[in-house]
Amino acid sequence: MVSLVPVDGLLKRAEDGGYAVGAFNCNNMEIIQAIIAAAEAENAPVILQASQGAIRYAGISYIAAMTKLAAANAGVPVALHLDHGTSFEQVMQCIRTGFSSVMIDGSGLPLGENIALTKKVLDAARAVNVSVEAELGKIGGTEDDIAVSDREALFTDPEEAGFFVRETGVDALAVAIGTAHGQYQGVPKLDFPRLKKIKSVVKIPLVLHGSSGVPDDDIREAVRSGVCKVNIDTNIREAFTAAVRKFMEANPEEIDPRKIMGPARDAAAKVIREKIRVFGSSHKAW
Ligand code: G3H
Ligand code: 13P
Ligand code: ZN
Repeated sequence: MVSLVPVDGLLKRAEDGGYAVGAFNCNNMEIIQAIIAAAEAENAPVILQASQGAIRYAGISYIAAMTKLAAANAGVPVALHLDHGTSFEQVMQCIRTGFSSVMIDGSGLPLGENIALTKKVLDAARAVNVSVEAELGKIGGTEDDIAVSDREALFTDPEEAGFFVRETGVDALAVAIGTAHGQYQGVPKLDFPRLKKIKSVVKIPLVLHGSSGVPDDDIREAVRSGVCKVNIDTNIREAFTAAVRKFMEANPEEIDPRKIMGPARDAAAKVIREKIRVFGSSHKAW
């Protein structure tokens, strides 16, 4: 029996071992099961994370109950993380329901306010052994309609990152280096020199968001450059819904949701296993 582990310990091991832990978004029960099945098949530590959309859809307590049950029955270390937390209040709600890690996303705030909010969350989280991820720079979405050159203005500044981490003492930092959430139009171009510079200044585990659609070799390069947590949502959604579509096209009369969702759960697990191998976290469970 393994209970939920804090993310800082997972990431410290990853940093020392030169790999990254996959953080996979939970959109429904089948996806939670797929994440756990994939992590067990790869014998890998894993992070289940709840996005704002998932919280709106299922509710924090429902997600916490399902993921805690999944973790209790898993044969690998599992963390439960709040993705892009929006407020101190939401962080507190997640901690109360048993999350082992939270992200507070103050990236839309002026620097001083992002620091103040992150510090406030850290003070509360430290008291209950919950780890904290923050974001500096703006990652955004592919649908944001921002030209690539304009997006660069929103990238994380290495010196500012150093100042932010010194001021807050945060456990992990999400960086903007050219990725975006959702489906890419073309191939994303990551700013590796910037990533290496940030890592040389901040010395804490870095987090790559918007990692679906980033070529495998670029993910490997990001991991070599200091990324210890890789967030994946869109590629799971794509695999899941493609399998649902395929099944329904072949079986248009089917009305049993279990028969429709079963193959989708398998398809999600397959894609998650492939990601875990790329991140280098296979056989890293303890
Ligand atoms: O933040 C990243 C997620 O992929 C966005 O997911 O639409 O469920 O909030 P959401
Ligand atoms: P993708 O949906 O682009 O994989 O991004 C996931 C993410 O960063 C969640 O925080
Ligand atoms: Zn994200």
